[in-house]
Amino acid sequence: MSTQATYTSSWFNQAQFIPPDAIFALTAQYQADPFPQKVNLGQGTYRDEEGKPWVLPSVNKARECLRTKGLQHEYLPILGLQSFREETAKIVLGAELFKEQASKIATCQSLSGTGALHLAGLLLRACHTKLPKFYIPEPTWSNHHQVFQSLGFPCESFKYYDHEMKSLDIESYYSMLRQAEPNSVVILHACAHNPTGCDPSKEQWREIAQLMKARQLFPLFDSAYLGFNSGNFDEDAFAIRLFLGEMQMEAGVCVSFAKNMGLYGERVGCILMSTVDRQVAVNMQSMLEMLQRSEVSNPPAFGAKIASQVLGNDELKQMWFQDMMTMSGRIRAMRAALYEKLIFFGAPGSWEHLIQQSGMFGFLGLSHEVVLKLREQHHVYVADNSRISIAGLNAGNVEYVARSITQCLRDLE
Ligand SMILES: Cc1ncc(COP(=O)(O)O)c(C=O)c1O
Repeated sequence: MSTQATYTSSWFNQAQFIPPDAIFALTAQYQADPFPQKVNLGQGTYRDEEGKPWVLPSVNKARECLRTKGLQHEYLPILGLQSFREETAKIVLGAELFKEQASKIATCQSLSGTGALHLAGLLLRACHTKLPKFYIPEPTWSNHHQVFQSLGFPCESFKYYDHEMKSLDIESYYSMLRQAEPNSVVILHACAHNPTGCDPSKEQWREIAQLMKARQLFPLFDSAYLGFNSGNFDEDAFAIRLFLGEMQMEAGVCVSFAKNMGLYGERVGCILMSTVDRQVAVNMQSMLEMLQRSEVSNPPAFGAKIASQVLGNDELKQMWFQDMMTMSGRIRAMRAALYEKLIFFGAPGSWEHLIQQSGMFGFLGLSHEVVLKLREQHHVYVADNSRISIAGLNAGNVEYVARSITQCLRDLE
């Protein structure tokens, strides 16, 4: 007689089928496409003029230094590499503000920007018996709702973008802040808003900060593009420094080195939680340590060592600043080139919004029908919301892309 139990039901009967993440699925579709002129404008990863991934010269040099020193593979502390956490806080806040506030900031290395957002959510959840509401811009990075909903937070979208005018809808933004439930969290893209490429001006940031302070709203900065947006780290950190410095507000800053150091797969990030009191900072840091321990025990070492080497060495840091100028400069040039070609081919509609946006993405404002046509007939892969990663353009494909967009729009006129 068989001793094997036969199962009539599974522990996982309740499991539902979740469709694959749209942007990763798009990359897979692109990779499977044999068409020689195919273009991938989906995933937000930097590509050089040949369409190839780029290892930053500063990162290459840092790697060499680490190799010369001799790499070992011991565990990092639970909070991560101390020098990396400190250098990250220093560069994000700037030397002066860092000196002033270092003792009131809890820091913890994270699994890139996503991990920092998740840790921020864990800490906020652990500190509140009634979970605060999260206000999230619409549109936003495709993972925001998932990260915070999975932690049980109620999430509410607010109108960030005017699709008609193709620009930031600042009045809707202000109006949401005036009516928001006090003691809620607002997700702020520190710069290079994903997907729209539209950021508030400095004056608008001041107004946003004042409204949030008056209404006791907690700013949680998603900072995935510092230095990558304008090529100047200080410029891109303006809003963060305004809230923490001039406005003296408590805030969370979720930092990623995926884009600005090209360390995508190494998962290098950091959460900075600034508070008004030293003891609160000590307590928060101890909680981050406990939360990190139960999630990953300790974060990955290699990427953090590279980033720490770059940030902590003046020569490498200058090289890195130059690398960020190279990346942001090439993206700006490609944005202008696409705009000029669309105008040259007479693509129906107006395209000024494309050159008014900044950062890695162009938010084209095409219908879903056009997006599908581009994909199926021209092998140009664009996200469903018609966001393009400008870094995927180069001198060899920009004309083809502009021509394809023009043709799809004409066909549907
Ligand atoms: C707005 C925004 N936030 C966070 C991230 C997280 O990136 P990572 O976890 O790779 O650092 C991204 C990546 O595309 C992003 O665009």
